[in-house]
Order: sequence, then structure tokens, then C-alpha cells
Amino acid sequence: MGIPKEFTPETVREQSPDSEQLYTDFWRSGEPFKSMLEANPWLMPPDMRKPLEWGTGRYWETTVARKHDYWRDFELPKPTKDIRQMRHDLREWGFCLVEEGLSDAQYARMRGRLRAQAEGERLAGIEQRTPFGQYVNTLVNKGRCFAQCIEQDPEAVQAGPLIEQIVDETLGPGWICHSFLANGADPGGYPQGLHIDQGPLMPWVTVEAPALFNTMYLLDDVDESNGGTLVIPGSHKAMAAAGNGGTIGKLPPAINLEARGGTIMLFDGRLLHGTGANRSSDQRFVATMSNVKPWTRQQENWALSVAPEVLESASPKLLHRMGLQAIVYGGTVEGFGLGARGGVGDRGGAIKQFRSALDAGEYRRVGELDADSPDEDLQRDYTLRHALASARRPRSDP
Ligand SMILES: [Fe+2]
Repeated sequence: MGIPKEFTPETVREQSPDSEQLYTDFWRSGEPFKSMLEANPWLMPPDMRKPLEWGTGRYWETTVARKHDYWRDFELPKPTKDIRQMRHDLREWGFCLVEEGLSDAQYARMRGRLRAQAEGERLAGIEQRTPFGQYVNTLVNKGRCFAQCIEQDPEAVQAGPLIEQIVDETLGPGWICHSFLANGADPGGYPQGLHIDQGPLMPWVTVEAPALFNTMYLLDDVDESNGGTLVIPGSHKAMAAAGNGGTIGKLPPAINLEARGGTIMLFDGRLLHGTGANRSSDQRFVATMSNVKPWTRQQENWALSVAPEVLESASPKLLHRMGLQAIVYGGTVEGFGLGARGGVGDRGGAIKQFRSALDAGEYRRVGELDADSPDEDLQRDYTLRHALASARRPRSDP
């Protein structure tokens, strides 16, 4: 008996002209970026096959707000320690600046570790070059201060508790870390295309609140000369106004961020931004840690990348931030974690034990079984069996 004709690839293709497809028009709309580039051709990214052009009025040819003809009279965000001012800045402009988010000592420690790591990776010949500059990835493995940063531990980030509060308010509690990496802007590098960090969701644009929230640690003083991050203040509102599949009109110009090292910029996942062009002679770094809802597929695949020694000493909170705490709709392993609430330290969603078993070469997965399976297979020391037993064990029982 042949396969019914309706199921053959030829017939399916024949019966699926673009005009009849379900939501293809929406997915292919290219909005809101298509209309944005039409209305603002100066936002077109550079042609990276050519040297970077200057004198064409594109978005990277700008300066800091206080020197900018358009922006100098606006009350744009300034570094502050006042959480109420930060809420105002985030609502109004899509970003805020946490003044001395890192203390001088914390800044020196994190900056020193990052610079040393960047150099080490260059010497090892494994540095990650981008058209913008060197990236240093998976910071969790590259110094305790970075793991503490993911936890917003005040020992590493003095503004940690304030940042936790703002991210809780923005994403809802239980948020996890999307990735934590350092973005270099190297002398002579290209600027990034202006983008929104929740871009993978497009053409959906969440209207009421962002779906991603970035915390960016300035590990150098930044301004217009060394590739201070480009932002279009308030552009998150234009994105929200466009809504799902909507269009964007004319936008105001971009500025370079100006702030001291140790400042932390918090920004809305709908804010247009990108690395600036570094015209100085020194490499400059910022470290970006975006955060997402607990079920989102993370940018960094921490379950695979976190070093065994970091994993072993990780606090329940760090495990949670890395997505190693399953929640019913995300991060389950062999069904373990279905039904888990995703809380810090919940035994019912503790994924670490699977990764540890894998590291030890002892991860035994459940495969094909049936009534005729030999006892050996039925009684096997499956990792899932251990996980289920440990989840059932009372708390007091180690
Ligand atoms: Fe970005």
C-alpha cells in the first residue's frame, strides 16, 4: 500500500501556495525593522566588506548627549543611586544608569580579571574576534567575581539588591540569565547594527513590558571616542507603539553612552542600541548579562558549558540563574522537573545531578523498555531513578 497522495511532499508543496499559508506573511514581514530602515535610512548598518565610512551621517557618527545638537536639552538618564529615578528613566527612555553599581574595589577586580582573561585567550589563540572587537564568553567559568555577578551578590556588585528588585519588577520573579559575556570594542572596529535584544521574538514586540532585560557592566570609562554604546533614547516606546507586526516611523538620532567605569546600565529589551565605533587606541570592554523569563531558551547553553568545578561549588541561586533548575515548561530532563515550580533549590527540578553524572561518565538514560526487557534493564541504575528518589526524600535527609 502506497502513502496517500495527500501526504507526499509534491502534493503538500502544490497545495501550499504563499497566498494560502497560515501565518507566513506575518513571520516574513520583516517588521518592525523593515519600516524602520525605510523611514530612517541612516540606520542602515555598515558594509563590513569595506572600510568604515565617515561623513555620511549614519548612526555611528554621533556623540554623547550633552554635546549633541538634538539631545543636549533633554533630561536624559544620568548615573544615579535613586531607584525611583531609575524607574522613571526606564519608563521614559528605556534605560537607566546605576551610579557606582560596582564599588571601586569591585570594579578594579572585575576589570583586572577580564583584561587578564582577554589577554590569556589571545595568547592561547582562542580569542573570539568579531567585526566590533574581541568577545570574552561564558564568564561564569572565568573568575568567581563573574559568578557572583550573576547572583547579584553584593560582595561583587554593591548595587545587587537594587538590580534584583528592578529585574523582578520588569520580568516577574523567577527570571534567569540569558548569557554573560564581555563585548570588546577594538580600535578601528565596526559599530554594531542597532538592534533590540529581544529581536528573536520579532515580528512580535511585547507592548506592555519587555521580554528581556539587560544589565550591562561598564568595565571602562566610555564616551564617543572609544565606542560608548550607541542608543536611541526612548526607542523602546516606538517599538511598543508599533506592536505586533506593526511599523515604525521617523526616529530621533542615536547618542553614545557616556559614563564612568563601574556604572551599570540597565536597559529594556526593546531599546535600539549597539556597540559604537572605537576611534581611540585602546580596547574597551563592557560585560552584558541579559535576563529572560524562566522558560526561555537561553543564549548561553550553560547546562553544557559550565565548568565541573564551578558547577560543584555553585550556590542554588547560581544554578537557578543558569537554567539548571527546571520548571514545568522549561529545562526538564527525561521528564524530571515536569511539575516543578522552578524555585531556587527545588529538589523536584534539580538538573545539576544529571550534568554531574554526565561529567563522571555515569549518566544512564532510560531507553527502550517493554514487558520482555531483561531484569538487568528494568533494574538498571538509571540516573532518573536517583533523581526521582532524591526529589522524594524529605528535606532533613541529606
Ligand atoms: Fe545588544
